[in-house]
Amino acid sequence: MSRWIIAIDGPAAAGKGTLARRLAAYLRLPYLDTGLLYRAVGRRVLDRDESPTDAAAAECAALALQPEDMERTDLRDPAADAAASAVADVRGVRAALLDFQRRFGAERGAVLDGRDIGTVIFPNADLKLFVTASPEARAHRRWLELRGRGLGADLLDVERDIRARDARDIARTASPLVPAADAIPIDTTTLDADAAFAVALRAARSRFGLE
Ligand code: DC
Repeated sequence: MSRWIIAIDGPAAAGKGTLARRLAAYLRLPYLDTGLLYRAVGRRVLDRDESPTDAAAAECAALALQPEDMERTDLRDPAADAAASAVADVRGVRAALLDFQRRFGAERGAVLDGRDIGTVIFPNADLKLFVTASPEARAHRRWLELRGRGLGADLLDVERDIRARDARDIARTASPLVPAADAIPIDTTTLDADAAFAVALRAARSRFGLE
């Protein structure tokens, strides 16, 4: 069994998660959604009635993170979105989560999706994909997802939030969202999940010499 590390980075709602999960299942590799780590840290801070922009509180929450925090059912609501984005900007939080991510991948290889997997967490990853889509397409997908979960939202509000999160992810000094120089770009604006998976699979087959 190969211990490949596959890094899948890109902005919010570009389709990284679906793609990463499918690729991991196909290649029989463990999968880690690293956004959940930041979401769980954000939730811990909110639970303590502290501010996610308070660097000391956020770092403390990251150091205290437990595996069961990732099982919470409230990690994808709008409050968690905002809190995750804020704590992700704190250097101490990123440092606290770095080891966990590296250990996860080192054991049996892994597919990890996030913002800095190919640039910071695993700069020597065997395969790097950078998944993007237009802000409008991503907002529409997120809006459909929210609706599907019974969370009504205004499409324009969702798009505004996505653009604000992009701006924060790109502008932050700690591990900003930027494609690794050797990442293969996949633009999913006009691709459905099957078509995006086909592109990723082609890249993996060619990289690993699979049939
Ligand atoms: O991928 P996501 O939307 O679940 O990520 C939640 C937040 O965490 C988002 O604001 C970006 C941040 N994040 C990060 O900074 N680095 C990662 N590797 C993963 C997520």
